[in-house]
Amino acid sequence: MVSPAWYQLPIVVAILYLVFQRQVLENSALHDTYTKDNNKTSMSCPSFTLHARTADGSCNDLDNPAMGMRLYRFGRNAPIEKTYVDEKNLLKPDPREVSNKLFKREEFIPATSINLLAAAWLQFQTHDWFDHGVNQRENPILVPLSEDDALRNRRPGVEALKVFRTVTDQTQKQNSSQDRPKTFRNTNTHWWDASQLYGSDLKTQLSLREMQDGKLKVTSGGMIPLDEKTGVEKTGFSSNWWVGLSMLHNLFTREHNVICDVLKAKYPKMTDQELFDKVRLINAAVMAKLHTVEWTPALLYNDILDVGMKANWFGLLSQLGRLGLGLEGLGSAGLGSLLGQSLPKNYLLTGIPGSTKELHGVPYSLTEEFTAVYRMHSILPDIIHLQDMNTTQRTGKTYRLKDTLFSDAFDVVEKQGMENLFYTFGVENPGALVLHNYPNTIRDLQLPETQNSEFVDMATVDVLRDRERGVPRYNELRRHLNMAPAETFQDITDDLKVAEELNETYSGDIEMVDLLVGCMAESPRPTGFAFSDTAFRLFLLMATRRFRADRFYTDYYNSATYTVEGLDWVKDATMSSVLQRHFPSLEGALRGVTNAFRPWKLQQE
Ligand SMILES: *[C@@H]1O[C@H](CO)[C@@H](O)[C@H](O)[C@H]1NC(C)=O
Ligand SMILES: *[C@@H]1O[C@H](CO)[C@@H](O)[C@H](O)[C@H]1NC(C)=O
Ligand SMILES: *[C@@H]1O[C@H](CO)[C@@H](O)[C@H](O)[C@H]1NC(C)=O
Ligand SMILES: *[C@@H]1O[C@H](CO)[C@@H](O)[C@H](O)[C@H]1NC(C)=O
Repeated sequence: MVSPAWYQLPIVVAILYLVFQRQVLENSALHDTYTKDNNKTSMSCPSFTLHARTADGSCNDLDNPAMGMRLYRFGRNAPIEKTYVDEKNLLKPDPREVSNKLFKREEFIPATSINLLAAAWLQFQTHDWFDHGVNQRENPILVPLSEDDALRNRRPGVEALKVFRTVTDQTQKQNSSQDRPKTFRNTNTHWWDASQLYGSDLKTQLSLREMQDGKLKVTSGGMIPLDEKTGVEKTGFSSNWWVGLSMLHNLFTREHNVICDVLKAKYPKMTDQELFDKVRLINAAVMAKLHTVEWTPALLYNDILDVGMKANWFGLLSQLGRLGLGLEGLGSAGLGSLLGQSLPKNYLLTGIPGSTKELHGVPYSLTEEFTAVYRMHSILPDIIHLQDMNTTQRTGKTYRLKDTLFSDAFDVVEKQGMENLFYTFGVENPGALVLHNYPNTIRDLQLPETQNSEFVDMATVDVLRDRERGVPRYNELRRHLNMAPAETFQDITDDLKVAEELNETYSGDIEMVDLLVGCMAESPRPTGFAFSDTAFRLFLLMATRRFRADRFYTDYYNSATYTVEGLDWVKDATMSSVLQRHFPSLEGALRGVTNAFRPWKLQQE
């Protein structure tokens, strides 16, 4: 008899299983890429940093102020010695062939349990967390195009794809060739601090501020001003831009400015700087909360994860009635909250916000492997069908993804208006995170000058990036995540046709299957999961770590740091309430919607 998978267990057993797995990974899958002989940046933290996030992310940890700041190295989830680049297999199998054979979208495959807003949100969040910076121009990787490659027709004269390498870490001693695997640095702060909105350095941050009442700059029309050079919004992080980002950056810039008004009214003596610092903390916490209790449960749509993710924020005690223990009816006002008041703050029982900070003995950073499992470009559609919130139907007007990118994004916002765009994003589906569903638009994409101005196949780049950064391939990473490696291609997927394609592409060598390919191929998946169980294990570990390592979500999640009004603001925020605050006309469209990242109409039937 086959034993049931964890997601087939009763909720309470499944939760205990996941809590146990997370503990295993906390002890085995967090690895520091710094060595003892690294020059520790000596840095002192001025007193204002006690109750404010700094622009560059320094001084979050007062004992190790450089931890998690901008240009701090990415860590690893695989043991360091397993992260050498496999130079001789860098192009094996040919990444362009992987793109053509396994990723190419023939027909759009929708993800029907989530909406396009969830896709935009994904990118909005990853831009808060990580970026490897502008690639270096020297010594690009050349990926030859086969004679019959479609790109040869479209780009006459081009015989190879030029992929610029990730910029090297200048702080890594290039000592006696390769005694340690290569390291890379994050050009964003590693913290969940909304740096996509506020920037990851002081100069950028100051340029975005009004310098009055704590506010961010907006035009007289209430929009983020555009950068004249790039035609893209002037915000904390503006690379890889498209209309979905334009919408969310504008939304949370407005949210910032409204919170400023509320605090200013309550605390008229607060300076511009004090207001800015408090509101940044509050706004970042709003986003972290929405990601935890709404976005994640929408992508991992089952009761176990709904209870589990809400427990991360509100505590397991708030979820007692849902554990199937016969405690229904206790509700949050019952036993749970009584116990919660009398027990010491325990992150499992009462939620992570306000619990005790915990690093598990490893300085905090995001990791290469975490970055890798967030490669989810298949979520983007090639065509966006506009909908009208008055008729609740498609209007017949469509945008090609291509025409919503970079400097074209704002045109779309201006022409269509934010309300109808948010409505469209609320009711339309994004792409499913499976093979054969990679947007063709970005398999032949001309980047703007400010981003190296080459044309790229992002699917080829995605595959190569993991190899170039020494991210273990699929099976090897599973071993380090306490999961059984696949022995046959049918262990990866129950789709016989896909299993055969994998076998062919990887010439029968299961150990060569790329992480991204394995994750997209994986099936069956846990009930309701938009992505693979393998990727999920890293989420389980890292989503919790982002909170527990951060002083501002743990020891300093209090009214002295956030103000009473700030904590209440976070407590009351839902994605639906944020949208309606700034776009009251969405009220009808959002009526009955309990999770704004699931298709809105589906929740109203
Ligand atoms: C450490 O940093 C100091 C000051 O920045 C510098 O002078 C020194 O060369 C560095 N040492 C090493 C081993 O990198
Ligand atoms: C290279 O690094 C290793 C360990 O990090 C150290 O033991 C060794 O002395 C270094 N060699 C040189 C030439 O600096
Ligand atoms: C929807 O209806 C309202 C009220 O009649 C109107 O003001 C608005 O312009 C309409 N929106 C669209 C996109 O037609
Ligand atoms: C790959 O296909 C070959 C030929 O059909 C088969 O013999 C082999 O077992 C397959 N390999 C795996 C690992 O499934």
